[in-house]
Amino acid sequence: MNFNIPATSKLRDKTFTFGVATASFQIEGSSAADGRCESIWDRFCATPGKVLHGDNGEPACDHYRRLEQDLDLIESLGVDAYRFSIAWPRIEPSPGVWNEAGFAFYERLVDGLIARGIKPFATLYHWDLPQYLEDQGGWINRETAYKFAVYADKVSARLGNRVASYATFNEPWCSAFLGYRFGIHAPGLKSDRLGFQAAHHLLLAHGLALPAMRANAPKAQHGIVLNMTPSYANSDSPEDQLAAEFADAENTHTYLQPLLQGRYPTLVFAQHPDWAPIQLAEDLAIMAAPIDFLGINYYTRGVIEKSDSGDYQTVPQADAKTDIGWSIYPAGLTDLLVDLNARYSNLPPVFITENGAADNTELVAGAVHDTMRTDYYNQHLNAVHQAIEAGVDIQGYFAWSLMDNFEWAYGYSQRFGIVHVDYQTQVRTIKTSGKSWQQFLADR
Ligand code: NOJ
Repeated sequence: MNFNIPATSKLRDKTFTFGVATASFQIEGSSAADGRCESIWDRFCATPGKVLHGDNGEPACDHYRRLEQDLDLIESLGVDAYRFSIAWPRIEPSPGVWNEAGFAFYERLVDGLIARGIKPFATLYHWDLPQYLEDQGGWINRETAYKFAVYADKVSARLGNRVASYATFNEPWCSAFLGYRFGIHAPGLKSDRLGFQAAHHLLLAHGLALPAMRANAPKAQHGIVLNMTPSYANSDSPEDQLAAEFADAENTHTYLQPLLQGRYPTLVFAQHPDWAPIQLAEDLAIMAAPIDFLGINYYTRGVIEKSDSGDYQTVPQADAKTDIGWSIYPAGLTDLLVDLNARYSNLPPVFITENGAADNTELVAGAVHDTMRTDYYNQHLNAVHQAIEAGVDIQGYFAWSLMDNFEWAYGYSQRFGIVHVDYQTQVRTIKTSGKSWQQFLADR
């Protein structure tokens, strides 16, 4: 199947950046190789009951050892860019010790991309915090923010302008709220207060890191990646409308408003003063340092109503779902982008840094006919097209993911790749969706 994008769409212009995305812990494996230290995800996986089937980061896609082959695979797709993350535990395996083998791996990755004409988009933190930092409190400890800034300095000094785009963080909502508030991700704590404190320190770390990153890589673009699930009120009642607004304030604007406007949304802490993080007077100004782009990861929407016990609850929908159970709602992506553009006069250029579907269609006779995923991409590309038509400055789009990989608390049970991975043999097979991508990209 071919993607059905209007012939005149900006998406068909070579200046629009298309890529595929991955993250270190989800694909690399080799968790003890070349001096890498334990991360919070290694520890979390080893804790019974935390990850489905007791799965862990081994061997994942064995990408650490199959780098060259995977670079060829990426090239064969015809993408302009590749978004990957750098594992802090490989770079700084013990406090203040900078690991040459760790730098060397990412240097090979970056140089290998450039040699193939592909732009490197690096994320400095995609959830794999060194465990020794968690032992000191992790993102609850303000010191971690300063340590991140030093790490970001070291990496950007080494990779410099060879990296086209640096993101400090991937989805700080997940690190803070899934990790410290809801206990679903590493390190598995469950406290509202700690969740917001972790969020504060992640945003602070972002702001603290930017000046050195800019100095080290003045030609690169610098930004951050946020996940967004827009909320729709379940009814026209003022209660449900407010509940939906509250949900967006809590989950989206708690992150975006400090970054773009140097303040937290008033709604959340007015209602829950006890959730407000401990902070210093200068923190919000540090967080609001200008960024060159905003990365947005979009998968689904939420339909929200007021709940009797808390602020709001999600109302299950009858819509079509991906295999992980998330509603397929492409209009949500257009609505989200248009809404952000109206709300924030200084919204920087946007990259859709992740979008994709869990479609667990199996490999049969050497092929994976993942029609649901192919259709999902087609619909969401059209949703991006609509947002561009409505005036939003969107410059790129990355499919999540290059290949099937470790889906966090779901282990290997959910497959997001446009390339199938047989975890036993490590054979990669381009799926039907991947072939649609090849076709679409080649046709530009
Ligand atoms: C968000 C995350 O950045 C990525 O790690 C994850 O696999 C996908 N979305 C799918 O859940």
